Amino acid sequence: MSILVVGSFMMDCVTRTPQAPQAGETITGISYKNYPGGKGANQAVAARRMGAEVIMAGMVGNDSYGETFINIMKNAGIDIKNIKKTNNASTGIGSITLEENGQNRIIIVPGANYEYSVADLMTLEDCIKEVDIVLTQLELREEITEKLAELCQLHKKIFILNPAPARSLSDKVLKAVSILTPNETELQLLTGMKLSSMKDYVKGARLLCNAGVKTVVVTLGDKGCLFVNLNKEIHLPGYKVPVVDTTGAGDSFTGSLAASIDSGLDIRKSIKIANAVGALTIQKNGAIPSLPDKDEVLAFMNLNSKV
Ligand code: RIB
Repeated sequence: MSILVVGSFMMDCVTRTPQAPQAGETITGISYKNYPGGKGANQAVAARRMGAEVIMAGMVGNDSYGETFINIMKNAGIDIKNIKKTNNASTGIGSITLEENGQNRIIIVPGANYEYSVADLMTLEDCIKEVDIVLTQLELREEITEKLAELCQLHKKIFILNPAPARSLSDKVLKAVSILTPNETELQLLTGMKLSSMKDYVKGARLLCNAGVKTVVVTLGDKGCLFVNLNKEIHLPGYKVPVVDTTGAGDSFTGSLAASIDSGLDIRKSIKIANAVGALTIQKNGAIPSLPDKDEVLAFMNLNSKV
């Protein structure tokens, strides 16, 4: 059993501040630090820390951040043979403003991630044939998502797509997706609907199921998560935990969801675990440094077994 993650690397440049500045305003921040992130790298490490065999594919720059990422992936026990280096651009960057309440605002500069081409992707076809699950996000070029969807359909793979950062998806991609994991904002963009209640989210998710997505799992922050397919819906409430930094919470959810499904757990048990993983992630700073391992998750779930 194994998971192929085709995705991004971004070095997060995080400024903690009492609140984000208004346009034209200068304010004094609290602290500044770099943390490794990027939705692809975050989801790969999240899945690995939950015990999955993970292969990561993507592109970093031929620079110190690129080297840092390769070491992080290697030390996490992830297969790094398909991580490429380019001289044409620097490793991607995430510029993050983090407010004291843990909420963030993120601007990514993809850099090397946008050098990853369809030709690079095609070198993965044999690997795609061998893995059980293919997981991706939307931080690589659009044509990568399109081609990957096509390959997953051709080779009948479980294709998990975290549609972030939000952009609309073609009919071809929607039809290929086994599990889509949008948050509320991404669900609104994908459906073109204004959504504000649980009933709305079910309606929006079902619209995507009617377009061909097999299962939609909406991440709802402190409201937990919502599973929807054509026949049923399940809402799991969120854990009440202290929020330090929400960066990477959605990624930890999707990465661990992929790991649980890969290990043979059913979707209900898998989203229950992913919900706990998300709740642990927001209690620490940074993206990759905040991702919990399996033992922490099991201990947390035992302590909070009523949720
Ligand atoms: O989802 C969080 C991630 O989004 C951050 O690590 C940042 O790099 C952006 O990709």
